[in-house]
Amino acid sequence: MKILLAGGAGYIGSHTALQLMAAGHEVVIADNFDNSCEEAVKRVNELAGKEAVLYEADVREKEALRRIFREHSIDCVIHFAGLKAVGESVKEPIRYYRNNIDTTLSLLETMAEAGVKNIIFSSSATVYGEENPVPLRETMRRGSCTNPYGWTKYMMEQILQDASAADPELSVVLLRYFNPIGAHPSGRIGEDPQGIPNNLMPYISQVAVGRRDHLTIYGDDYPTPDGTCRRDYIHVMDLADGHVKAVEYAVKHKGTEIFNLGTGTPYSVLEVVHAFEESTGVKVPFEIGPRRAGDLAECYANADKALEILGWKTTRNLEDMCRDTWNWQKQNPMGYRPDKKQ
Ligand code: NAD
Ligand code: WQD
Repeated sequence: MKILLAGGAGYIGSHTALQLMAAGHEVVIADNFDNSCEEAVKRVNELAGKEAVLYEADVREKEALRRIFREHSIDCVIHFAGLKAVGESVKEPIRYYRNNIDTTLSLLETMAEAGVKNIIFSSSATVYGEENPVPLRETMRRGSCTNPYGWTKYMMEQILQDASAADPELSVVLLRYFNPIGAHPSGRIGEDPQGIPNNLMPYISQVAVGRRDHLTIYGDDYPTPDGTCRRDYIHVMDLADGHVKAVEYAVKHKGTEIFNLGTGTPYSVLEVVHAFEESTGVKVPFEIGPRRAGDLAECYANADKALEILGWKTTRNLEDMCRDTWNWQKQNPMGYRPDKKQ
């Protein structure tokens, strides 16, 4: 099949492109490199031993999408294109709503024109909000999000569900990712955040490689076994494999289907720090700071539905996630751009 990856040069998109090509699919990537670069796609091609077709394009621009749909017969779209920094979304909500909602609308409109009927969407556990008990299941109602980024995911899920309700031919798969970390085991592709990382694992690995002095753990007074928050960390390669299964599912079904992509096993911040130290042999100095606004004590999946329906489950453990993150970070201390400042 030929799959269009909107935002496919980014962290999750690049790993997914590789796994799709390894499974024998053709990949077309559209990305404006807002948070990524061409080098990632070059490395994916090297690893795959095949070429993904790359368009430097803003996915909000319908003319750019029309050209892609004219030049390729696309079987399924995977919509990764979006801004994703929670803190930034609080400061720049309009930019987040404009980018994330418009990419979704432009894709749906041009897909309809081109007769493309299958779309997979990068959603997030954040749509469960604060109200639901863990482990989180797809049957639970979406909750109140704690930031504009989360609300964009909530709204985009609604838009996609409404579109599929209105068009019986449309197949929509909403994938709710938990906390993706890790990298391809070669260390050639991985997560390359701009500026100071917001997320835990990139911060840890940048401390380990000497780019940051120490990690601040946001609070140790949560109602969890060691007082630090617990999350469902998932290896990005497992997540990528989940997309391969989702594509194969999407093209055979109609309507909307939702899947959690997580391991179902939570780890605390302290457990992640210790696992990283053990699997890499590198010390990660940390201090305990105040809580971060909006953090939930616990967030983890019930991932049974993905196993039952997609036949997908995770196969990589926390040690693999730490080792592969470190392999990527130490080979690429400044990410894809060695001349990068900080
Ligand atoms: P990323 O920033 O690495 O990838 C997103 C890609 O989209 C980037 O390459 C960026 O340049 C591109 N992009 C953004 N706006 C665009 C536009 N208007 N036109 C074309 N390209 C555009 O992020 P990621 O971690 O790979 O996340 C992929 C998707 O998964 C995002 O939608 C994100 O919200 C979602 N998600 C991520 C996480 C996570 O923790 N990484 C968790 C849940 C959901
Ligand atoms: C994990 C844990 C922090 C950094 C976010 C988004 C979510 C989804 C995934 C996109 C928390 C703690 C972190 C640090 C720390 N993204 N931490 N010191 O907040 O679970 O989820 O990314 O959809 O929507 O909210 O991930 O990696 O930021 O934090 O102590 O320097 O690590 O408090 O407990 P989070 P995270």
